Amino acid sequence: MEREIYHPPVLLKEAIHYLNAKKGVTFVDATLGGGGHTEAILKANPENRVIAIDRDEEAIERALKRLEPYGDRIAVYHANFSQIDRVLETEGVSEVDGVLFDLGVSHFHLRGERGFTVWQEQPLDMRMDRSQRLTAREVVNELPERKLAEIIFKYGEERFARKIAREVVRRRKVKPIETTTELAKIVEEVIPKKLWAGRKKHPAIKTFQAIRIYVNKEFEEIETAIPKAAHLLKGSGRLVVITFHSLEDRLVKNLFKKLEPEGFKIVTKKPVEPTKEEISHNPAARSAKLRVLKRL
Ligand SMILES: C[S@@+](CC[C@H](N)C(=O)[O-])C[C@H]1O[C@@H](n2cnc3c(N)ncnc32)[C@H](O)[C@@H]1O
Repeated sequence: MEREIYHPPVLLKEAIHYLNAKKGVTFVDATLGGGGHTEAILKANPENRVIAIDRDEEAIERALKRLEPYGDRIAVYHANFSQIDRVLETEGVSEVDGVLFDLGVSHFHLRGERGFTVWQEQPLDMRMDRSQRLTAREVVNELPERKLAEIIFKYGEERFARKIAREVVRRRKVKPIETTTELAKIVEEVIPKKLWAGRKKHPAIKTFQAIRIYVNKEFEEIETAIPKAAHLLKGSGRLVVITFHSLEDRLVKNLFKKLEPEGFKIVTKKPVEPTKEEISHNPAARSAKLRVLKRL
């Protein structure tokens, strides 16, 4: 089975184009990660400044090294992007030319040891921000069966959610579920083999996605941040959002629709997708979709 670890900046040219980054001047990268998009924004115009946010301190440390040559053209904040308004206030900036969200986990997360991947035996953690209390271990071992089933169904669109939750609860009574492999095996046993055997996707991927979204409150973060970010744009400023799965994309699409009557225009009626060439170089890009909202 294939492993997904390589993740250079996705839809990079498209993001730079839609952000109007060549014209500049002040941008927010709400998901700094490895700093690939930020660096491209800084290179697009020597006048550009980036205020970057990430909730993962380790990502920030790594990105800061990469971005050292850009000096004070970059300011980095360890924060949730739902706090974008507070970050800009601290920075003394009231409006910006563009905001980028490249959602989800980074390849560092997938390659790391925090239990984001079904492909390696690791402790069940899944926190993007390690200073947060709630971990996947608690979700899997402590939530009531009904709540667990609801999470797996809602955030994973997993039709075997109830059966998976029932089996998880049965097993955890015998012994706590500690690792990614233990959880992945339970899911494998519940989902009929004929539905996944011989396919590239691991049958537990949906369950893992669901637990990750719940642990990191990913949808609450997006629902709070996108309207805030839109209202921080200057006239003609752009909000560019890259998503990686259908639930996330639907959420962003609906948030844009709600914002349109408040003085915004949806630039991308249909989302922009990676070219075949990009996917061939970077398979992690294959499910990416980019949407753009412009302030009138
Ligand atoms: C896909 S990666 C970004 C990759 C980046 N564009 C690059 O070029 O390397 C997403 C990053 O967003 C961060 N992140 C996700 N949700 C966040 C949130 N609610 N607040 C702040 N950072 C978040 C993650 O920690 C991760 O580092």
